[in-house]
Amino acid sequence: MKTAICPGSFDPMTLGHLNIVRRTSRIFDRVVVLVLVNANKRSPMFTIDERVDMIKRIVAPFENVEVASYDGLLAEFARRFERPVIVKGLRAGTDFENEFQMSQINKTINPELETMFLTSSVKYTFLSSSVVRELASYGSDLSEFVPREIVDEVLAKARGGSYNG
Ligand code: PNS
Repeated sequence: MKTAICPGSFDPMTLGHLNIVRRTSRIFDRVVVLVLVNANKRSPMFTIDERVDMIKRIVAPFENVEVASYDGLLAEFARRFERPVIVKGLRAGTDFENEFQMSQINKTINPELETMFLTSSVKYTFLSSSVVRELASYGSDLSEFVPREIVDEVLAKARGGSYNG
């Protein structure tokens, strides 16, 4: 069974992330969407548990996709699986250098670990969680940017209110 790990901070998951997860699920037998801490991103909007909960609802229709979180190194988490492949989306320009560095470091820590990149769909090339957080802070319609299951939740969080589903 070939397993892919789709790692990220997913704060929150965007339609661009979901596009990558969907395409990965068509290539691999099993996909683990893994919520991790990005040490460079401070003051997250959602807790790790909230992100896992949201992603579980979003990917519920996909039979071979599961969701996990890990409070450590991606390369260490990956040891739980037999020859897993990390799959990430690559957007225009700036992603490359950072992703290239991370893949090299991950392979140094865990030499069996390969990283593959799927080029992002043109529609989502300029979409990011930080753009979503900014739009949400202005109360903007998010339906073009995040999965419908979490549109209201992200807006409620930005307003500082609680969300009751
Ligand atoms: O969605 P992001 O923020 O671009 O994802 C980056 C992430 C979370 C995958 C990366 O920061 C990560 O792997 N964090 C876990 C800790 C780790 O393994 N760090 C070493 C990476 S060089």
